[in-house]
Amino acid sequence: MSSFPTQAGGVPILFLKEGSNRSRGKDAQHNNITAAKVVAESVRSSLGPKGMDKMLVDSFGDVTITSDGRTILDEMDIQHPAGKMLVEVAKTQDNEAGDGTTSAVIIAGELLNKAEELTNKNIHPTIIIDGYRMAAEKALETLEKIAIPVDLKSSDYLKKAATTSMGSKIVSEYKEFLADIVVKAMLEVAEKKDGTYKVDIDDVKVEKKTGESLKDTSLINGIVLDKEIVHSGMPKRIEKVKIALLDASLEIEKTELDAKINIESPDQIEAFLQQEETMLKDMTDKILASGANVVVCQKGIDDMAQHFLSRKGIIAIRRAKKSDMEKLAKATGGKIVSSLNDISAADLGYAALVEERRIGDDKMTFIEGCKNPKAVTILIRAGSQRMTAEAERSIHDALCVVRDLIQEPKIVAGGSAPEMEMANALRKFAETMPGREQLAVKVFAEALESIAVTLAENAGVDPINIISELRSRHEKGETWAGIEVITGKVQDMSKADIFEPLSVKKQIIKSANEAASMILKIDDVIASGKTKGPPTPPGGGMGGMGGYPGMGE
Ligand SMILES: Nc1ncnc2c1ncn2[C@@H]1O[C@H](COP(=O)(O)OP(=O)(O)OP(=O)(O)O)[C@@H](O)[C@H]1O
Ligand SMILES: [Mg+2]
Repeated sequence: MSSFPTQAGGVPILFLKEGSNRSRGKDAQHNNITAAKVVAESVRSSLGPKGMDKMLVDSFGDVTITSDGRTILDEMDIQHPAGKMLVEVAKTQDNEAGDGTTSAVIIAGELLNKAEELTNKNIHPTIIIDGYRMAAEKALETLEKIAIPVDLKSSDYLKKAATTSMGSKIVSEYKEFLADIVVKAMLEVAEKKDGTYKVDIDDVKVEKKTGESLKDTSLINGIVLDKEIVHSGMPKRIEKVKIALLDASLEIEKTELDAKINIESPDQIEAFLQQEETMLKDMTDKILASGANVVVCQKGIDDMAQHFLSRKGIIAIRRAKKSDMEKLAKATGGKIVSSLNDISAADLGYAALVEERRIGDDKMTFIEGCKNPKAVTILIRAGSQRMTAEAERSIHDALCVVRDLIQEPKIVAGGSAPEMEMANALRKFAETMPGREQLAVKVFAEALESIAVTLAENAGVDPINIISELRSRHEKGETWAGIEVITGKVQDMSKADIFEPLSVKKQIIKSANEAASMILKIDDVIASGKTKGPPTPPGGGMGGMGGYPGMGE
């Protein structure tokens, strides 16, 4: 490789392991930017309600159909290190705001694309990074300025934002119906403290069961467990329930040691079995003594123990998930007990009703009317497993959007109106700047406009006409002029009821700028060669970078 230093005699000094790859300076930047652009390109066509969906097949042949930016990138199993950084953008965006992942990745890709044009004109990356930072600050300031405060007393805007978020998903046909459920669920679990609201989306449990259709999705006031009652002799329904939550098994523990027992007479076998039965009986007696009439156990329940419990008319559920146990503890006010010796009446939780119901081909257990009413479950129904999975992702996005709005009650209209408004402000801001950073601020504005371009492209209308119309209308002061993709026309988006939380938009700018700057700062990529040893699993490690086109071979 030419970039390695050589001694006077022309003998290269090797300071990297054989097989290592190194690319530096413009080469390294070009490779990274190209990889990031390819990643951004791959999600472009799925932006907005007219965006297309992707079918992703993993190494086991499992198929996912989605239009969710984060899911697409996660499933694509990207290996190029710079490409991976864009996947990180989607993850950050998803964790912080829950929606806007596709937008963040598209803008990050475009920021890098434009930066490359500037570096080709010999503008140093640090100047671009500085310019981008100033532009991002200005853009955020503009967003704050145009955002509309909403009053949470009416849930109108919450519903509009949830509907917008689901409008760009496969479930959009039922967006209004699902948005209603999402908003109701979130308002149910929101807590008001000193004038501000606090919500945790984990308080909304989401369960899915294939069968029926999306419009049979329902909101249940309580917790639904994807479990059936263990024994057919147990009641299917109990009211005024006292629940014991156990993190201990109702089985005879097998010893770690291999022990042999020599039995010499039938009496001894009898005594041995009797002993086991007594131990199990003891365990169930302890539960009975606490006053519980429902037992939810995180571990197993022996057949004999099931029998004892059923004889006493107690409902038992086994192998509940840890996360469900925690939710149950919170909802019913019970304590998770890890040793049967400790269980007492004070540990029990309370619910008005426990009932097993048949849902599709399966049975699920409903725990309703809990002591703490801030526990709800959304039970998703849809015709196929792929649809329930996509519905779950879309509902997750919508729950996040509603949470964002409850925590920071400010909205902006969508359809690229805020991006165009920011771009407009940035162009004016650039005029006031003396140095070369002004060029970076100008291209930042163009990168923001890529959202309008992409929405137009996906709607099948000419982006050039749209952009010029949008620019001139924003120049004239029409803050909410955007492209309505259903009609394909420019219009006031606040009148089209397309609203998004301010915090999602802010996070898009932050995540995109951070990733672009981080990639721009890199001028040296050193990748160690493949180690001889166990082969890297597919998708694991970056040892195989030599295999990627453009990785400095
Ligand atoms: N009817 C509409 N007309 C125009 N634009 C719309 C409309 N509905 C939604 N949008 C816009 O579509 C964009 C959102 O698209 P989408 O949900 O596919 O991507 P995302 O939110 O960036 O990422 P993801 O949802 O995958 O996390 C936003 O800019 C939003 O304003
Ligand atoms: Mg979205």
